[in-house]
Amino acid sequence: MRWNSNLLVPVAALALCATGLAQTPRYNFGRAATPEEIRSYGVLVGPAGKELPPGSGTAKEGSAIYAQKCASCHGKSGEGTKVGPDLVGGKGTLASAHPIRTPGSFFPYATTIWTYIKAGMPANKPGSLSDDEAYALTAFLLYRDEIIKESDVLDAKSLAKVQMPNRNGFVPAVPVWPETSAQRRQYP
Ligand code: HEC
Repeated sequence: MRWNSNLLVPVAALALCATGLAQTPRYNFGRAATPEEIRSYGVLVGPAGKELPPGSGTAKEGSAIYAQKCASCHGKSGEGTKVGPDLVGGKGTLASAHPIRTPGSFFPYATTIWTYIKAGMPANKPGSLSDDEAYALTAFLLYRDEIIKESDVLDAKSLAKVQMPNRNGFVPAVPVWPETSAQRRQYP
């Protein structure tokens, strides 16, 4: 058999990669991040909210925190400014000529709002909010969009149960890979 020289280079590169992986190469700079450092970059929370930390908050508590830490960029009532996007409203506009994408109108999972706020906001001081503050701010935004009631307490359990209006508005870009080997055998 004649080797196709165009193929040879990628094959050789793959072989090198595999060897490299097996031997865990050392480049003699940097160091492995510690578990504490990884945690400090923020909690990654999935749709079911299993990773959510203890703590809780209500819309009322969130309202005061919002005025102090968020309104400067997102407007007094979440209507948006030149600096920060709208955070409330937009319900039913997604399929219109002028869709308004807010957490309430767009995000499929309420847990994503908590994660976004906790990890990334306020934009000028990300990571500075306590877990309780992130629960309270999430409650405030969901209450303003009439998705929860003002008296509802959000915590690790109740947050994951909130049904977002756009929950079923997404389709996977690629087919979801089947989880079990029996399902995979039927995969086209
Ligand atoms: C210094 C300005 C600033 C402050 C203060 C700020 N934000 Fe933001 N926020 C932004 C900007 C800019 C974006 C858009 C970021 C992007 O799209 O990449 C944003 C995006 C967001 C989003 C995502 C909106 C969406 O539809 O994707 C949420 C939720 C949010 N902010 C919540 C908050 C909360 C809650 C606070 C208060 C703790 C806050 N922000 C404070 C500037 C700010």
